[in-house]
Amino acid sequence: MRKRIIAGNWKMNKTLDEAIDLARAIKDKAADVQNVDMILCPPFTNLSSVVDVVKGTSIGVGAQNLHWEAKGAFTGEISADMLRSVGCQYVIIGHSERRQYFGETDETVNKRIKAALAAGLVPIVCVGETLEEREADKTQEVVETQITGAYRDISSNDAENMVVAYEPVWAIGTGKVATPQQAQEVHAYIRSLLKTVYSEKVAETVRIQYGGSMKPGNAAELLANPDVDGGLIGGASLDADSFLGIINA
Ligand code: 13P
Repeated sequence: MRKRIIAGNWKMNKTLDEAIDLARAIKDKAADVQNVDMILCPPFTNLSSVVDVVKGTSIGVGAQNLHWEAKGAFTGEISADMLRSVGCQYVIIGHSERRQYFGETDETVNKRIKAALAAGLVPIVCVGETLEEREADKTQEVVETQITGAYRDISSNDAENMVVAYEPVWAIGTGKVATPQQAQEVHAYIRSLLKTVYSEKVAETVRIQYGGSMKPGNAAELLANPDVDGGLIGGASLDADSFLGIINA
């Protein structure tokens, strides 16, 4: 059985004080949560403080991006070792917002994944189609390209420890959630790709999150699908009650 994994992607939200308050509120409300891996992904500036808040609990902390180079003249960038040094365990890679606004490609996604793995971070790799691509019946094609690009030259040991987030772009921040059937269909397809590229074992081990307008009110039906192992939550992760509402679903 794959353990559920629910992560909050705070995106570019929360100043330091706000981040500490939110992390504290989540920690207090989550004291009894078991059998779910819970991860908070605040902006870089809040990572260290959020790590301090959740220290001694099972709540993990992740970053929203990293650079693939170890160090050097890359103004504005953050390396995998820097993330490790503040206590990060996870890192979101290839979010559609990075692909859309910051020139992220399957090739740079792959480089970032390798850097994360080398530093002992768990990559949460995001894939997903736009509305245009879905309407043109290209969802599988797009997801296949993104998955094979992301996993290029990654060993099966490493592949097993990665997390995939299926985030249909048309569902992100739009309030338009994928139906449980749409989510299950793509999740099963991603698992079948991992089976083809690696093995049944890898495919059955990798956890696949759904992301895109997941809320307390729709989480249960999405998470009831056999191939949906958790969620990557944007808007609803910015409030302790709604985030916990999803965890408790
Ligand atoms: P929303 O939950 O706000 O739709 O965002 C999803 C997302 O992009 C998480 O990474």
